[in-house]
Amino acid sequence: MTLETEADLFEYQLRSAYYVERRLVDALDELQTSATDGKLVDAFAEHRDETEVHVDRLEEAFDLLGMEATEESVPSFDGLLQEKREFDAQAQSEDLQNRFYNQAGRQTERMELTMYEGLLTLADELDVDDDVRDLLEQNRREETAALEKLNSVSEGSSVLDKLR
Ligand SMILES: [Fe+2]
Ligand SMILES: [Fe+2]
Repeated sequence: MTLETEADLFEYQLRSAYYVERRLVDALDELQTSATDGKLVDAFAEHRDETEVHVDRLEEAFDLLGMEATEESVPSFDGLLQEKREFDAQAQSEDLQNRFYNQAGRQTERMELTMYEGLLTLADELDVDDDVRDLLEQNRREETAALEKLNSVSEGSSVLDKLR
């Protein structure tokens, strides 16, 4: 598809968000299974369920816009997942892994926040249907809450304790 207008950019970014959200359901499952810190496991599990709703909201947005729900690949997201697996192949410490997963989780939330901020700015400029805007805004709010939750989960405090 040729991208020329702001409307094209909006559609492109909506499809990118759809790609990321759909893969995040499984990625958060993987993080939840890999993590051993109880609070971190809970944070990933809770946000995994929210992410399923994010996918549903994006499908509703596509529907309201009269668009078919299709994906645009996001290699930077795939890279984060690859990085997690490469780290696991070398890691010999659960504490370090929990720290790394917390950081990986926050990176994905920041990525999603940037995506939704961009989409919402375009939605305002393009005067997109309020219902579509609300769906994007609800996702954005839950990404912010997920980021704050991960920030509040202690990052491998036991590692720091051992160093003291
Ligand atoms: Fe999300
Ligand atoms: Fe998220």
